[in-house]
Amino acid sequence: MQEPERDRSPPDSGGRTTRLVAVSNRLPITVERKGGEWRVQPGGGGLVRALAPVLRNRGGLWIGWSGTTEEVDWRELIGEASKDIGYQLHTVTLTSEEVEGFYIGFSNQVIWPLFHDLQTRCNFDPEFWHYYRLVNEKFAEVIGQNSTEADYIWVHDYQLIHVGEIMRSLGIQRRTGFFLHIPFPAPDLFIKLPWRAEILKALLEYDLIGFQTMRDRRHFVNSLLYLMPGVKVSGRGAVQSVEIGDRQVRVGNFPISIDFDSFARQAGSPTVTTQVNWLRRSMMDSYIAFGADRLDYTKGIPERLLAFRNALERYPDLQRRLTLVQVVVPSRIEVAEYRSLKAEVEQLVGEINGRFTHAGWVPIHYLYRNLDTEELLAYYRAARIALVTPLKDGMNLVAKEYCASNVQEDGVLILSEFAGAAYQLQENALLVNPYDIEGMADAIHQAFYMDSEEKRQRMGRMRDTIRRNNIFKWIDSYLQAAFAKQLGDFPSVEEFIPQIRLDIEG
Ligand code: G6P
Repeated sequence: MQEPERDRSPPDSGGRTTRLVAVSNRLPITVERKGGEWRVQPGGGGLVRALAPVLRNRGGLWIGWSGTTEEVDWRELIGEASKDIGYQLHTVTLTSEEVEGFYIGFSNQVIWPLFHDLQTRCNFDPEFWHYYRLVNEKFAEVIGQNSTEADYIWVHDYQLIHVGEIMRSLGIQRRTGFFLHIPFPAPDLFIKLPWRAEILKALLEYDLIGFQTMRDRRHFVNSLLYLMPGVKVSGRGAVQSVEIGDRQVRVGNFPISIDFDSFARQAGSPTVTTQVNWLRRSMMDSYIAFGADRLDYTKGIPERLLAFRNALERYPDLQRRLTLVQVVVPSRIEVAEYRSLKAEVEQLVGEINGRFTHAGWVPIHYLYRNLDTEELLAYYRAARIALVTPLKDGMNLVAKEYCASNVQEDGVLILSEFAGAAYQLQENALLVNPYDIEGMADAIHQAFYMDSEEKRQRMGRMRDTIRRNNIFKWIDSYLQAAFAKQLGDFPSVEEFIPQIRLDIEG
């Protein structure tokens, strides 16, 4: 495939400059009501931080839902937040029926489980599909009203697949790209979707479609070849070309990452070091194994707890010497499946602690809440073992954050082979099949007894990989493929967001 020429001048003969317009279901802000007053806080996270210079340059903007259905004067609130972060935010307002059908329904009970290979958790209610299209249309209209033909529209994730297609049907001519943050399923699973042809056709309306890994891109291309005879795929390397009728679409894999230096710097700070020492002492110097996940059945939390129980049963030498700290961040509690998962996790933690606790040692410390940055960094650094064992995951940034924060290089990463991160870290993490309880227990045992030189070497290599392939490289490679730009083409403005927020939501 031919690379497009680097474009350093405004692309539009009308003198209009290219702005980047990021579009995602949620805006990069948190909205909460305190004492009757609404407050908006700028969000953090690697993606937001890395996109900020591009968005601040030439007046870019971010379009998304505020996360609430309550009636609020968004113009004023969001206007204030926009000033704080240095680029414009624009809200798409949703009614509670729309949230029910589009977000709780189609996004989280159809696409989310199916794309994570969990077809039996799907609810293919046709009503959900109706709302999905409707809300995607709302997004397309807001984009049309707030952008020009010169702008580049970058749509994110599975909630908004149809936005590009609807824009085209409404005559909104823009250059568009899409990035799927979650996995794309293999064709034999994808074809179960009643709206499989619609979803493929909608994706093909973007100029560039980005996936996390080669696995996802291959699944997508194979689904196309299977369901759409006449499609031609050509090219090798990170970006391929798909021809369908007179349209040519590019398809690439771009593994998302984190701001490595920021994590390493903050994790090594004196305040975090003090917390690490305190944490280790408070656990009587037993080894800490650490897991941190959004409450989600794709994260494999019950399976991990069973593996930990199995390790304590089969390797009693670990008792009193290894403590599991499991953080579960509340999420999507409106969906019944998530509520029953919470009950299942809590019942298992209770059962294991009831059975194995001795005076002075509780095997599992369970935290059902979000941690603040320093607390999370301290756990990352204090943990000798990280358990990142999703049943399936687009990437999983917890794995990368753990390595970046492990500045003393004395930790072992136990990583699911079905996480996108495994494609980059497989040689130096201990790879496990999250469905194999005994295999995971063996990996915990192996990690516990790994000698410090081996740990240092493995961790050092993983940290090098993540340092080189950081979030800035991700944005660079996507923008380069999208419209021949790199981050360096957008002069950085002074930092507006003083702190990283961790990408635990992954
Ligand atoms: C995953 C998805 C994101 C989503 C996030 C949090 O990381 O890829 O698109 O925003 O989970 O989920 P929520 O449903 O709360 O937005």
